[in-house]
Parts: sequence; structure tokens; C-alpha cells
Amino acid sequence: MGSQEMDQVAPREVFWNSHEIFQLEGFWFYANSMQSMAAFRSEFQPRSDDILLTSFPKTGTTWLIALCHNILSLDDDGKEEDDVLKKMNPHELAPPLDVNFLSDQVQDLLLDPGRSGGRLLQTHLPYNCLPESVRNSGCKIVHVARNPKDTLVSMWHFYNKILKISAPIATTTPDGPFPVERAVESFCSGVLPWGPFYENVVGYWEESNRRPKEVLFLKYEELCRYPEEQVRKLASFMGRPFSSMEDGDAEVGKVLRRSSFNRLKELEVNKNGVWELHRLPNNTFFRKGTVGDWKSYLTPQLAERIDQLTQLKLQGTGLSL
Ligand code: A3P
Repeated sequence: MGSQEMDQVAPREVFWNSHEIFQLEGFWFYANSMQSMAAFRSEFQPRSDDILLTSFPKTGTTWLIALCHNILSLDDDGKEEDDVLKKMNPHELAPPLDVNFLSDQVQDLLLDPGRSGGRLLQTHLPYNCLPESVRNSGCKIVHVARNPKDTLVSMWHFYNKILKISAPIATTTPDGPFPVERAVESFCSGVLPWGPFYENVVGYWEESNRRPKEVLFLKYEELCRYPEEQVRKLASFMGRPFSSMEDGDAEVGKVLRRSSFNRLKELEVNKNGVWELHRLPNNTFFRKGTVGDWKSYLTPQLAERIDQLTQLKLQGTGLSL
């Protein structure tokens, strides 16, 4: 469906009193990205060595981009001072294709990824909404998932910050954050950008079971808990396995160090820089970077509400989050 056709028929809602979203194929997306999304879905030409990073927002996209970029760049340079992550927020290396497909920056990146290791691409689109060309191409897809309560709390912080800066409708409570109870309500209703959360994640989970060589499913919590093992798994999947010898261990350590939350958060570019494409301060992508922070924000009742929904939605899938 082209964007004009979508525009006429798509149901619409307003997310958090601030952004218009529209529904397509059971999922919700920002109305202002409709044209870009339609173009991405119909015009994008995948290459067999593309690596497409997918995620629901706030589940570890920034970390995944940094990890993959550092894996792909191992052959390019050895020196820390050449690291482009010192000059750019990870999202600038792989802007979301569904939102930015028509921008010059993305078109330039698609033509020349600026590294020998191939193109690193990113989107929050659910699996079934990916361009057909991608689903049929056999290019590699990595998905990162995260516990729904931590995802929600991370989202709550993120949107409270960015909606103050960028909301076109802007009726959020001016004196304080959007109420967390209403954020839980919106999360559970599924009416939020790229939502529903569960259906988005399960789509990739099921595809990773069907096509494990082409779709890798990672979890934020496992990356935190078993970083070396998970990065080895990721690199092997990307066709860049580390050696099991000492030099392999050193390379794994280098990738992890360069991608680490503490390092990236403290870089000047991420402390004070702005991601021009979205006019967002880079520091909005680095908050706490831990597992279980939801306990500081959700009452037992709100947590129980999400847990029950999680159980219901993941029943029979074999996935636990
Ligand atoms: P918190 O808000 O819980 O701290 P996304 O990148 O998908 O937008 O997800 C953002 C979440 O990942 C935030 O979680 C952020 O702090 C965390 N994050 C960002 N960079 C990270 C990194 N290098 N390592 C671990 N977590 C990271």
C-alpha cells in the first residue's frame, strides 16, 4: 500500500497526548513516518551481506548497533582514536530505515556504508511489516529483546524527555512526567509506536526458530549476564567468528569495552552532542543500562498487570522475557 492510500484508510490514535500514530497490519507507527515507511517497504534493495538490526524501542538497540559496528570494524583499524563512536552516537551509524528512508543521510549510507564490513541497517518494524525484499533475501537479521517491565520503564523515561522537546501535539502534563499508570495502560493496550510490544517481539522469535541461520534472537539480560558468550555468538552469526585462542579473547574484550554503557555514556559526543536527524540529545539514549530497574518505578499492582499480560501473550511460544 502506498502512503497516500495508507493515509486515507489507516485508523489513527494519539500516543501519550502527543504524537499521532496510525495502524497498519495490526501495528502502530508514527503518522509522520508514513511516507518514509511506505518507500522503505516498496523501494529498499537488500544486499546478501546486509545485517539488519531489529528491536522494539528501548530494548538495547543502541548497544546492539555499537556491538555490531565494533565487530565489523575490527579489520578496519586498531587504534582507539580512529573509533567513529567517539564522534557519533551509535544511531547515526544505522538510522532507523522505516523512519528515515527518504533522508539524504540514509540514502548516502545505503550507497556507501563507510566500512569494509558491509551495511549495518536498523529498524523497529515488526517482522511481518519488513519489506518483502528483505524477508525473501536471506540477509541476516538480528533482534534484541528485553524484559517488558524494564522496556516500559526505559520508554517512560525516554518519552518523558523527548516529548518535551519534540511533541507536535504537546499536551503532556506541563509540570511533570506523563503518569506511569497511563504509560502502563498504553503499553498493555498495544497502542504505541511499533506496538503491540509482544506481537512485535514474538514475530522475530518465531522467525528465528524457523530460520536460525538467518535470524538471531538475543536478549538484553543475557548480553548483560554473559557478555563474552553472547558477543561470540553474535559475531559468529555475522560471519565474523572470533578465534577461541587468546587473540580471540582479546578481540571480544575490545568489542565489549568499546561498546560498553559506561564508556559510551561518558564520551563527549554522547554527553553533549545532538543527533541532528531527529534533533535529539544523544544523552537520551544512555540512562542507567541495568536489569530490573522497573522495581524503582512500578507498584506491585502495575508490575502484576504487566506480568499477567506477558504470561498470556507468550503462552505457547516457548519465549520467556
Ligand atoms: P535504560 O533506560 O533502562 O537505562 P534503546 O537503545 O533500544 O533505545 O534502549 C535504551 C536502553 O538501553 C536504555 O536503558 C539505555 O540506558 C540502554 N543502553 C544504551 N546503551 C547501552 C550499552 N552500551 N550497554 C547497555 N545498555 C545500554
